[in-house]
Amino acid sequence: MRLRRLQRADIEAVRDGFASGIAAATTRWMFPRSLPSKLGWFDDMEASKEHDAFAIVVNRRVVGICSLRPPRFAGRELTIAIFDPAMRGRGLGTFAVTELCRFGFSQLRLRRIELGVYPNHRAAIACYARCGFQYEALLRRYVYHNGVWTDAMWMSLLRSEMGLKKNERAR
Ligand SMILES: CC(C)(COP(=O)(O)OP(=O)(O)OC[C@H]1O[C@@H](n2cnc3c(N)ncnc32)[C@H](O)[C@@H]1OP(=O)(O)O)[C@@H](O)C(=O)NCCC(=O)NCCS
Repeated sequence: MRLRRLQRADIEAVRDGFASGIAAATTRWMFPRSLPSKLGWFDDMEASKEHDAFAIVVNRRVVGICSLRPPRFAGRELTIAIFDPAMRGRGLGTFAVTELCRFGFSQLRLRRIELGVYPNHRAAIACYARCGFQYEALLRRYVYHNGVWTDAMWMSLLRSEMGLKKNERAR
């Protein structure tokens, strides 16, 4: 398994991953997107200095996506989705989140990475907690999901909390 920069050629796999609806129950990404709209998203992301996306690759297959995008509050916001349910619960999320945070803190020199998660999404919360994320707040009735105003749990990880190697530490 590895992370690599998302490429334009990956967008069809990403579109298919979200279009399958498999991530809809636990993410804010509830509706299928067309290929042109996803390609537009990719081009905007490439043009932005505040958005970095990576493909999660297993045996050369793109099985998920993760990113650091502009924050709701401060730093960057982490997003992740592993499309194939058979690939979940095997440590892939923990690997991808750790690698992405290492990139954010050492390459982008971030001080803080934040994320939102539904409070009943126990697998994601376990994954984030294992990567060092701490509970920060409950945003009440924050997301309109499936016809219901739903709470979101906010978590964050600070650079000082991540065990960076000496050569990765920001100055
Ligand atoms: C959330 C997600 C990224 C996690 O990735 P993953 O590869 O499944 O995560 P990991 O295998 O590294 O860790 C999952 C942890 O949850 C635990 N877990 C799995 N199902 C669980 C459950 N129902 N209740 C409690 N813990 C659970 C696992 O045991 C594991 O913890 P452990 O390593 O301490 O044993 C992945 O499931 C996913 O992409 N889901 C769909 C999209 C999504 O929900 N994205 C996140 C939105 S916030």
